[in-house]
Amino acid sequence: MMNIRILTQFPEMFGAVLGGSILGRAQENGLIAFDVINIRDYSADKHHKTDDTPFGGGAGMVMMPQPAFDALRSLGAEGKRILYMSPRGRILDRELAEDLAKEREFYILCGHYEGVDERILTAWGMEEVSIGDYVLTGGELAAMVLVDCVSRLVDGVLGSPESLDEESIYSGLLEYPQYTKPREFEGLSVPEVLTNGNHRLIHLWQYEQSLRLTRKRRPDLWAKYLENNNILTKDEKKILNMVLSEDERP
Ligand code: ADE
Repeated sequence: MMNIRILTQFPEMFGAVLGGSILGRAQENGLIAFDVINIRDYSADKHHKTDDTPFGGGAGMVMMPQPAFDALRSLGAEGKRILYMSPRGRILDRELAEDLAKEREFYILCGHYEGVDERILTAWGMEEVSIGDYVLTGGELAAMVLVDCVSRLVDGVLGSPESLDEESIYSGLLEYPQYTKPREFEGLSVPEVLTNGNHRLIHLWQYEQSLRLTRKRRPDLWAKYLENNNILTKDEKKILNMVLSEDERP
């Protein structure tokens, strides 16, 4: 069982996400335990204060070291992997998510306002993680994004092992287009190949669509995909070579 411990001044923000369908089920099934810890509870201040004005001046408030240090100590976080959500950090990507999905336990600290006292980050050896080059009002939404994408990689969370199998050949590629009933809607029809029940052809069509979409929209992912030694069947190799031999369409 994986244990993810989140330290925040706004624990109520996590309810809907951690209790929601897939993550809620993962907890009920004993696959992941989420602990949301209110940093305010560890404040030594009689008003449960956790922030103060920054030395050197400037706008906003900064998280004081005392509540964070005491919370981490009382949880036994010494020597553990601790992430701090921040736009200064390493950008979250599939590689980092896969790495975190192998952990038995890790911590996430969420900051607010102008951030946290730097001594919290250095003394606890925190790893700064960003979810993208934009600034949120706090680390909570970023932590939820990280927890969601890591959780779906934990064994058993998505249910059918098929979906992960499926993903392995598509890993690094964008998803192919999906369709559902009806076959014909307002004059728009579903691609013929998907409706004829030939699973080999369906699979190859989907693979081809993934290749084309990735090349067109994400040249960076496409270059990475071609560098990897993807394990492909003969047919899949044929499709890949066909796509490679054609000029990119506008
Ligand atoms: N906190 C504020 N903005 C953030 C971002 N982009 N990623 C992670 N944490 C953040």
